[in-house]
Amino acid sequence: MIISKKVEQIQPSGIRQFFDLVLGMKEVISLGVGEPDFVTPWNIREAGIFALEEGFTSYTSNKGLYKLRLILHQHLKQKFNLDYRPDDEILITVGVSEAVDLVLRAIINPGDKIIIPEPSYVSYGPVTELAGGIPVYIDTKKSNFKLMPDALERVIDKKTKALILNYPANPTGISYTQKELLELKKILSKYHLLCITDEIYHDLTYDFEHTHFITLTGAKNMTVYLDGFSKSYAMTGWRIGFACGPKEIIQAMTKIHQYTIMCVPTISQMAACEALQAGRKSVEEMKREYKRRREFIVDSLKRLGLACSKPEGAFYVFPSIKSTGLNSLEFAQRLLKEQRVAVVPGTAFGKNYDDYVRISYASSYENLKEAMARIENFLKKSLRREKHETKNKV
Ligand SMILES: Cc1ncc(COP(=O)(O)O)c(C=O)c1O
Repeated sequence: MIISKKVEQIQPSGIRQFFDLVLGMKEVISLGVGEPDFVTPWNIREAGIFALEEGFTSYTSNKGLYKLRLILHQHLKQKFNLDYRPDDEILITVGVSEAVDLVLRAIINPGDKIIIPEPSYVSYGPVTELAGGIPVYIDTKKSNFKLMPDALERVIDKKTKALILNYPANPTGISYTQKELLELKKILSKYHLLCITDEIYHDLTYDFEHTHFITLTGAKNMTVYLDGFSKSYAMTGWRIGFACGPKEIIQAMTKIHQYTIMCVPTISQMAACEALQAGRKSVEEMKREYKRRREFIVDSLKRLGLACSKPEGAFYVFPSIKSTGLNSLEFAQRLLKEQRVAVVPGTAFGKNYDDYVRISYASSYENLKEAMARIENFLKKSLRREKHETKNKV
């Protein structure tokens, strides 16, 4: 067989698989892919255009444009009084996606275990396996999708190397308060484990101040902090993110990055400088709009009888569809076919989530209103009619 066993065994992303179905269908409202519906703010696009005009068309340092690393350094210093050296503690990556891959490849020896609270972002498990590690999933359904310290402690053993903590989370939108993070940190410190934090949605936290894990006392040396520009600045297509962490880990990540990627596209790095220096106003505007949509979608789902906890951040809701009697794939496929609304089956984020679907509200308010009307139609007409028919047959 020409394909490696490891790759052969890995399932394709549940999100992508489903959205191949959507492509080519007409009049579909897609609440599926986790991507801002906004275009990158003009000043950031202009910085990219200007970089091209000025002829910034060559490679940058493998670690990333020095100017960008310096801005990140200053940013973290000013905001949190944390010192991340631009030379060896910051690496610019092709989105958080590459950063996740690099950090896992940099730390995993065959058979090492990585703890992943579920439901989780789709890449953590497969990338852990590709790196030769063993993902250890923790089901968080019973604790409102939050990782509890005792549940964390229960799965730790001698082969455990790290925890991946994503908050605000994809697909649930849950986040952690400082107090909750401190409790998790206590357990990680007790067993000398690394915390890989994916805080790509940190700017989109609605009800309380986001606490960066690295700002907890003593956390800096045990944390690799991953972040990016895709969500906050609506820059998904620019493919840019970064990792900050202890020197030996960042250097190991840089070694892999220099052979596989070389460097992130130069114009994206120039645009990211502008985002950090002059992008705040746009972030706040987009955040206000996401918040407005969140209120609408949570209220609508409640009215329709789909139980759903209020997301504290990001732009997803993860309602239970148990009351419909359908599994998540049936629900998503039928909603798409009968009402032309695309959502993602819960099983894309973990095998225990067949009673849930993920709905993204990174879509215009008008689209959301129309989508909710269609979901109401689906629930009240199609499903109720069916139930009625079944009852009559019996
Ligand atoms: C939690 C999480 N991490 C990482 C990523 C990847 O982001 P990037 O575009 O920076 O690669 C996503 C994208 O959806 C995400 O939801």
